[in-house]
Amino acid sequence: MKFFIDTANLDQIKEAQDLGVLDGVTTNPSLMAKEGITGAENILQHYRDICEIVEGDVSAEVIATDYEGMIQQGEELAALHPQIVVKLPMISDGVKACKYFSDKGIKVNVTLVFSVGQALLAAKAGATYVSPFLGRLDDISTDGLNLIQEIRNVYDNYSFGTQILSASVRNTMHVINCAKIGSDVMTGPLSSIIGLLKHPLTESGLAQFLADYKKGN
Ligand code: E4P
Repeated sequence: MKFFIDTANLDQIKEAQDLGVLDGVTTNPSLMAKEGITGAENILQHYRDICEIVEGDVSAEVIATDYEGMIQQGEELAALHPQIVVKLPMISDGVKACKYFSDKGIKVNVTLVFSVGQALLAAKAGATYVSPFLGRLDDISTDGLNLIQEIRNVYDNYSFGTQILSASVRNTMHVINCAKIGSDVMTGPLSSIIGLLKHPLTESGLAQFLADYKKGN
């Protein structure tokens, strides 16, 4: 399973990259705003900066909600760097734009997916990634992991090439359960990746090994 980090914070992206397990980055307009990155030029430069840190795919989201606007913004984003993946919302014009970009060989991440039907449309339109938001479903008492499982089944039935990018991951158990289900990718905060390291028996075991080494040296 690929690990993407879901942030526009350059320090956190560097930290995940330094750990050696990072496969890409996802961002969205809210994450950009959280880092204080505003204005078209600053946002575009920030995407370039992110691409310089990581080696994998970097999702950059369009703001337009009409077909022509999405094409214009998507072309501009894709031209920024070869690692850019155009992120499009799961709306009618987003599906059309997904088809346009996938026919041109430009990678697309279809975002804001909350149903199997939407995931099916994204795959039919040639999306490279589909992003079901499992945390936001959990937030409203709906089983987000169940959606990932259902999309996995449907995609496997027809050998769709679209990768399931489990998004809105909030914690380590989301990551682990996505891996058990067979999600191709997960994107979450740095804490959801770093948290996987932790186990009290690792810490106490290491402390004991070091103490025993000191006794004999
Ligand atoms: C996905 O690409 C989104 O950026 C993200 O995962 C949304 O997560 P949230 O529900 O924690 O905002």
